[in-house]
Amino acid sequence: MPKLTVQGVGTFEVAQGKRLVNALEDEAKIDQMHACGGNARCTTCRVEFITGEPEKMTEAEKQVLAARGLATQTSLRLSCQILCDHDMEVKAISRVSTSGAKDAGKRPADAITPPPVWTTK
Ligand code: FES
Repeated sequence: MPKLTVQGVGTFEVAQGKRLVNALEDEAKIDQMHACGGNARCTTCRVEFITGEPEKMTEAEKQVLAARGLATQTSLRLSCQILCDHDMEVKAISRVSTSGAKDAGKRPADAITPPPVWTTK
């Protein structure tokens, strides 16, 4: 099983292919934001990669990062568009407790939404 390390929180085993956004909540137990419910619209599920940043990227992630002017921020990715299919280490930079939001947002589905069309970063 792949290992997910969240800086300052710990290292967790995650089921192969689980959505990163859900692993942050379920395994790492952090209050990860996901305001749009994991649909590549809000960018609040953003994380900063320390190691293991995936080369592949969904078209939806690529488009929303570009539209929000975030595509040039090195290592910033959307956890709702990433699968835990290898070891990775991230910094949780968008949490309910530090955002002022009233909740994290609707729980993202188990599978990536919208249905992923894979491209590269
Ligand atoms: S972009 Fe909204 S939860 Fe990922």
